[in-house]
Amino acid sequence: MSARPSMESVETTAEPNGQVDGASGQHVASVGPAVAPGDSIDPDTYRQAMATHAAGVVVVTAPSDRGPVGLTVTSFTSVSLRPPLVSFYVGARASAWPGIRDAGTFAVNVLGANQHEVATRFATSGVDRFAPPVSWHRSLEEIPLLDGAIAHILCHHHNVLAVGDHWLVVGRVTGAVSVEAGEPLLYQRGGYARLHPIIET
Ligand SMILES: Cc1cc2nc3c(=O)[nH]c(=O)nc-3n(C[C@H](O)[C@H](O)[C@H](O)COP(=O)(O)O)c2cc1C
Repeated sequence: MSARPSMESVETTAEPNGQVDGASGQHVASVGPAVAPGDSIDPDTYRQAMATHAAGVVVVTAPSDRGPVGLTVTSFTSVSLRPPLVSFYVGARASAWPGIRDAGTFAVNVLGANQHEVATRFATSGVDRFAPPVSWHRSLEEIPLLDGAIAHILCHHHNVLAVGDHWLVVGRVTGAVSVEAGEPLLYQRGGYARLHPIIET
């Protein structure tokens, strides 16, 4: 596998905002805001829209020959129950990527609401992300696990796909532990936040 994804290897196509005409098979434009496929969007507009999307914060960790590696990730999501699959995207140039790629295993550490400093540390370039005050230990498979996380999800690589300037990493879940009623750390509009339930339970 090459260290950099090929930009051509995966093309994402947006469906036009309209319906397919049964007779001609052509897409029929509908009234309303639409972005035609192939149209480009300026990066600031794209970033601004994406910043509205709130996400849970995790740190993906893996063992490597040169010590543990890891990075802060909000692109984590569940994919499938049978088989149990999860995924995240990692930038092709991320310093942690070669270690995660070569390990073939990784852990998803779901951060708790009070772990925003851990999130900042694992997103900072050129520092030892595992140095104190970060506290961690190793799983039986030698995967580094961050103490204080509200869940640890252990995975083997299931699939790795080049998508744009990122790798899509799909992991098969081999084990998981979670803290009941653990409060998650969230990220939105460039800042960390915590849950504010609409209905108190
Ligand atoms: C809240 C937050 C979420 C992030 N999510 C991702 C992500 O999903 N995928 C990714 O590749 N990088 C993500 N990053 C960036 C990485 O954590 C890290 O900063 C980046 O890989 C640069 O590290 P490097 O200079 O050591 O390569 C995120 C950063 C922050 C602060």
